[in-house]
Amino acid sequence: MKIGSLRENISLEKRVAITPEIAKKFIKDGFEINLQKNYATHLGFEDKEYESLNVNFYDQEEDVIKNSFILAQLNLPKKDVSDKLTENKIIIGLLNPYKNKDDLNILVNKKINCFSLDLLPRITRAQSMDVLSSQANLAGYKAVVESFGKFEKAIPMMMTAAGTVPAAKVLIVGAGVAGLQAIATSKRMGAIVFATDVRMASKEQVESLGGKFLIVEGSENLETEGGYAKETSDDFKKKQEDLLSETLKKIDIVICTALIPGKKAPIIIKEHMLDNMQSGSIVYDLAAIQGGNTAVSKVDEIIERKGVKIMGDSNILNKLPVSASNLFSKNIYNFVLNLYDKEKKQININLEDEIIEKTLIK
Ligand code: NAI
Repeated sequence: MKIGSLRENISLEKRVAITPEIAKKFIKDGFEINLQKNYATHLGFEDKEYESLNVNFYDQEEDVIKNSFILAQLNLPKKDVSDKLTENKIIIGLLNPYKNKDDLNILVNKKINCFSLDLLPRITRAQSMDVLSSQANLAGYKAVVESFGKFEKAIPMMMTAAGTVPAAKVLIVGAGVAGLQAIATSKRMGAIVFATDVRMASKEQVESLGGKFLIVEGSENLETEGGYAKETSDDFKKKQEDLLSETLKKIDIVICTALIPGKKAPIIIKEHMLDNMQSGSIVYDLAAIQGGNTAVSKVDEIIERKGVKIMGDSNILNKLPVSASNLFSKNIYNFVLNLYDKEKKQININLEDEIIEKTLIK
């Protein structure tokens, strides 16, 4: 079984799908690995490191594709590259079916099996393959580090002979995977942490990490069967706005993570709410790339309004690409093993397996 991977466009994507550690594991399991030249040199993984593990290298993308049965990527390759895939081959990655609908339709019509890990069901058995969790966890951590780095005051309370430095107050909007890690990281640094979410299940998780959960009064539980958030009603939005408008007056740093799968991110922090914040406060919007949780967020820009900085990256994982690749690559390995029939030594696309059925684009 041959697995290939192409260099990503590293100006946009610094993560790789196959690290040397995972190449070694695949090869030990009897797989063959084909990579494109200079595959991960930008991360300090030289080709010779992979070659010492018996990985094959090719100059051209088309040679990697021709010699591989499975292509493992972060993102869907450009159309002229993915066009080179032939019938029955497999591509696995964060294929973003909402954004890449047309290109994926073409591949599906050519009978190429496209597995998009964004569609992975959030079930216990899928946890080791869950790229959304592995990447969101790191994103939550890094969002805190980035915003604390921009904040011009100290985070923990310090009692010194020269006086007391108060602890910074942090608000996390959206307590999913990224939000929970943002709470844990902020707590570790000594901040006082508040969090809010539309899913009541998250209240206990927030509290177990030492955060204070802010409940929107009269809100019912807005959780889908799959564990995701539903879109909120106008009445809920108004109540949430009232609650957060008041809260934001005393908050120093806000980390926004609220998302609704397949939809534009909900705008939760409006302009008048930002205007209520103290000068020097920071808003880090992890949802900026999906439209943003604030009314003014722009990716890869720091917007300054009356002394409040609002920031968000197009791909925050590019700021810790080695850690992100290590986890992503392990997720890919576990996903491929679940697709592989060890006895028959072949891929088995068993549509009775929920993980396979839900991630296969039809
Ligand atoms: P996500 O990235 O889709 O959304 C982030 C958070 O924003 C969610 O907690 C969501 O409820 C919240 N949110 C959405 N709209 C909001 C609004 N208007 N106001 C406030 N908050 C809002 O979610 P994520 O992090 O991917 O988690 C989704 C679910 O999957 C969660 O229930 C999580 O516990 C579950 N999960 C289960 C796993 C398992 O294996 N059992 C593994 C990982 C996640």
